[in-house]
Amino acid sequence: METEIIYAEDDYSNEAINRAVALLEDGEIVALPTETVYGLGANALDADAVAKVFAAKERPSFDPLIIHLGSREQIHEVCDLSPELDKVVQQLMQEFWPGALTMVLPKKDVIPDIVTSGMPTVAVRMSGHPVMKEICKVFGKPIAAPSANRFGRISPTSASAVMKELGGKIPLIIDGGACNDGLESTIIRVEVGEKRPQLHLLRAGPVVKEQLQKIGKVIRKKKPRDVSEAPGQLESHYAPAVPLYIFEKPEDFRPDEGKTYGLLSYRGQAKDGYMDLHDWEVVEELSPGKGKLAEASVRLFHVLRLLDESGVDAIVAETVSETGLGVAINDRLRRASVTIH
Ligand code: TXA
Ligand code: MG
Repeated sequence: METEIIYAEDDYSNEAINRAVALLEDGEIVALPTETVYGLGANALDADAVAKVFAAKERPSFDPLIIHLGSREQIHEVCDLSPELDKVVQQLMQEFWPGALTMVLPKKDVIPDIVTSGMPTVAVRMSGHPVMKEICKVFGKPIAAPSANRFGRISPTSASAVMKELGGKIPLIIDGGACNDGLESTIIRVEVGEKRPQLHLLRAGPVVKEQLQKIGKVIRKKKPRDVSEAPGQLESHYAPAVPLYIFEKPEDFRPDEGKTYGLLSYRGQAKDGYMDLHDWEVVEELSPGKGKLAEASVRLFHVLRLLDESGVDAIVAETVSETGLGVAINDRLRRASVTIH
């Protein structure tokens, strides 16, 4: 199959939107831009279309998908909310939608089991990317879209990265430019709670704990109790093809004779401990100079790809401060690494 890329111009009534919607209506899959990462979309109400997403990604069927809505009101078509839960959800939608927050909520029967891997809950979000927003609105039905990468690999933050992951396996990629956030959405399971809403953090992301605390108590387990709580949150994820190492201290790094190493540095500064430690084949910086976590998030998956393609034998990564967006960045780095600390 030949994969076509169409650029979505700034007026959104263009060919790109129409082509994407026509494919979705035909039960086909198409790669779509969002503010977090590119998604591989299908009609969420059509089990056969969703099956094509699993096949193209080589994704195991136990890993459920996120569905994307065109409006806040649409949530009632897909989720079964008690009045109490609806109140909390309305507050969360008001504050964070459209945007990078995914909520796991009780599902309605219209959502086929294949989308949720048979679970009684469904993960929903409304994207703020103008092209994705328009496609969801024009299509009118929820769009199931996991990240547009092969299973277990680095999420794509540009149309060219999607092409590298899925070229030849899908008919169309809508190019909406580079992703603004660069990390997958924050995922929470929402419960009413006795005093305050309980927001169970299943995946750290662009919407950070400090923001969520305005609405409810944020509960984060170190590791999910069992896989059914956060299926798909496998430790080995976002993995480059070459091994990536994280060390407690720079001095713990012991290079093998004759092997080449690439450094993923936060700021590119010697005082962080790695720059002068070794004769690096390649150095890529997440946020050159001062170090800004927002810039580091946007660049993380792109830079991981650059290092992966640079031909080095292994990658060494510096972690960033464990605050705000740093929590999600470190989470992705640890999942990408061969040794988890
Ligand atoms: O930013 C994003 O969320 C991107 C864009 C395309 O929207 N999507 C994305 O999807 O990252 P994906 O499939 O790569 O990750 C979705 C994760 C799954 O791995 C799973 O852990 C979780 O969402 N998930 C989906 N449904 C769930 C459910 N009912 N309960 C718990 N977790 C769920
Ligand atoms: Mg993914």
